[in-house]
Amino acid sequence: MFGLIKTWKALEARGIMGINRRNADYVLKYNKRHLYPIVDDKIITKERALAAGIHVPEMYGIIETEKEIEKLDKIIGGRNDFVIKPAQGAGGDGILVIADRFEDRYRTVSGKIISHEEIEHQVSSILTGLYSLGGHRDRALIEYRVTPDQIFKSISYEGVPDIRIIVLMGYPVMAMLRLPTRQSGGKANLHQGAIGVGVDLATGVTLRGTWLNNIISKHPDTTNAVDGVQLPNWDGFMKLAAGCYELCGLGYIGVDMVLDQERGPLILELNARPGLNIQIANDCGLTQRTHAIEAHIEALAKDGVTEDAEQRVRVAQGLFGHVHPG
Ligand SMILES: Nc1ncnc2c1ncn2[C@@H]1O[C@H](COP(=O)(O)OP(=O)(O)O)[C@@H](O)[C@H]1O
Ligand SMILES: [Mg+2]
Repeated sequence: MFGLIKTWKALEARGIMGINRRNADYVLKYNKRHLYPIVDDKIITKERALAAGIHVPEMYGIIETEKEIEKLDKIIGGRNDFVIKPAQGAGGDGILVIADRFEDRYRTVSGKIISHEEIEHQVSSILTGLYSLGGHRDRALIEYRVTPDQIFKSISYEGVPDIRIIVLMGYPVMAMLRLPTRQSGGKANLHQGAIGVGVDLATGVTLRGTWLNNIISKHPDTTNAVDGVQLPNWDGFMKLAAGCYELCGLGYIGVDMVLDQERGPLILELNARPGLNIQIANDCGLTQRTHAIEAHIEALAKDGVTEDAEQRVRVAQGLFGHVHPG
């Protein structure tokens, strides 16, 4: 079931981007510091997205102070499922996905039963900055729980898979589907133990996956194949991701999206320092792709031309699409 992964060194020959190059040539070059709060704070991202008419999971409420924790019951209302997360969290840490009630307690998406006091404690930890970037005081955000589209039933275990697309100056350059596993507790973050699966930009068909540094073609929990799966509404996801450039103004971002059973494609969050493992999931380096986009933009600039989201998607699909898993 497991093949040994190619080392980063082997990928380097194919234009792999390392962390120093990413930071110097992309994050620092394309992302203006004063714009960081738009993506580093999920509440601000949501407000921006709503203003731009982009769909996001509905926000039920915000808790900013210890005193406000008493509002929690009212914010949750009669709902049986919801999500609590740190506004400035990352990597899936501190996120509580509540799937159901059980008597006077709650059941998390991975089946753990927790009390109201435990939830309050979690909110309090969020406020103190336990999960926030840099350990600063943070806000807790309570939002709609996404129910994944049926298409993901066979290839996912609990939780919500998400689709990550790296976008350079509005041009998608690489995509990955992330699938929660038993180990990742319903979250789609790779370092929590989720699987990363490459996606063909032109077709939305999945390539092979990587899990805990192994190449895999089957989901370890469901044993179903993760490659060769056609993701629905692929061009819609590509356009949504490309349009996030106008939304936030940052030139190098990772756009995380989900497909909700009822509400369709939603933006979950934007990342100003997207991880590099997407290259392993795609068995392909980022550098050659980012260089191709930079050359494309430079050529357009000579003629004073810019392209809209739809055109940018078509350019990316023409340049990077139709890869064959090898
Ligand atoms: N509203 C939600 N409904 C269901 N699952 C969610 C929701 N928000 C987050 N998750 C799960 O948690 C993971 C991490 O959430 P995200 O908002 O991307 O925060 P982080 O910055 O910590 O990655 C997602 O990939 C998803 O699997
Ligand atoms: Mg995320």
